[in-house]
Amino acid sequence: MNKSALLIITGSIAAYKSLDVIRRLRERDVRVTCVLTKGGAEFVTPLSLASLSGNPVYSDLFSLKDETEMGHIRLSRENDVIAVIPASADMIAKMVAGRADDLASTTLLATDKPVLIAPAMNSKMWEHPATRRNLAQLRKDGIHIIEPDAGALACGEIGQGRLAEVDTIVAAIIHQLEGDKPLAGLTALVTSGPTYEAIDPVRFIGNKSSGKQGHALAEALAQAGASVTLVTGPTSEGLPKEADIIQVTTAEEMLEACKAALPKDIVICCAAVSDWRVKTPFAQKLKKRANESPPAIELVANPDILRTISTLKTKRPKLVVGFAAETQTVQKNAEAKRISKGCDWIIANDVSGGQVFGSENTSAVFIAASGSEQWKNISKKELAQKLMQKIMDYFPAKVVKPKWKQS
Ligand code: C5P
Repeated sequence: MNKSALLIITGSIAAYKSLDVIRRLRERDVRVTCVLTKGGAEFVTPLSLASLSGNPVYSDLFSLKDETEMGHIRLSRENDVIAVIPASADMIAKMVAGRADDLASTTLLATDKPVLIAPAMNSKMWEHPATRRNLAQLRKDGIHIIEPDAGALACGEIGQGRLAEVDTIVAAIIHQLEGDKPLAGLTALVTSGPTYEAIDPVRFIGNKSSGKQGHALAEALAQAGASVTLVTGPTSEGLPKEADIIQVTTAEEMLEACKAALPKDIVICCAAVSDWRVKTPFAQKLKKRANESPPAIELVANPDILRTISTLKTKRPKLVVGFAAETQTVQKNAEAKRISKGCDWIIANDVSGGQVFGSENTSAVFIAASGSEQWKNISKKELAQKLMQKIMDYFPAKVVKPKWKQS
């Protein structure tokens, strides 16, 4: 993502969480620059912020070095978004008053960019009428407020005031950066390609999957604003640029990678996972010997990734989509498969004749509990777009608005 965020870190015990926010934004290719207030510097050091952001840290309004390197006006204008994390009660009050007595408050006053704040404070301070008034004013001023969570606070008291989860903060910043893309703020996992199960060091059980469909799905999800992780088996297909890519070889590795990537809002299992693997792969290359019968290979079942994810008790994604490659009675078999796997939707391809593998085009039936739809002779990219439309229609009704958007 060719975007940049200015993070202002103010004085609160939760300041250390800004380090994780920086790390996560950098993982999404967001350039991060930090402004550290005097209070913030009591909790985190400029060195940790500089190391994680990869940029100098600014703190002094009257520093000749800071002003010549990056003046406060440039700081306030050159980034796509400003996020105050954590925002102390004092910084909130300053913003309301339009004070400009340090670099952070001056930058906030001078900016023409969207501003998000993630307050963190003692619950009595949070509930105080002065803070209530201040927040109401900031909302009127167009500031986005990422509401703090309730729970045990650092001071030992219990109540609202704990900095929002890092996930929520990162999603809010990304949403702001990506604009009003329809799937912004949602997270997605796609499995793609074949799996290879070793027979011996050079041979394997594989299949004809090219990874084209899975990659097209990952790309379409990312373009629609979702944050995408693609777990792909071995493929020579180009990898989508905007997804986090995890390359695996076997079904077991694919399952582990998927589990580690959860929780996600959307999971699409498009990989052609080998149903079986060799129980004990041979350590040496099997030799062909005259007059000897071929070696017996004992197979065991691989885990079913789609079923595992669809039937999770916790972390079950809000939407799980499977694919079914069928060669006969396509729709009937796929309808039964949707129920037996526990997924929400299934997309069935007729692969009789093998013409779908590696090809740009496909024909499919989209199957949900509410009914089915034929998608005939379309490209794999078009199929991805049709599925995106379904996902967009599905989410407004089902997803709870992100907390930071409710205020
Ligand atoms: O059972 P079958 O292989 O026909 O199911 C196909 C669907 O299940 C696809 O979505 C595929 O990605 C998924 N699958 C899986 N793990 C397996 C087998 C299939 O995720 N071991």
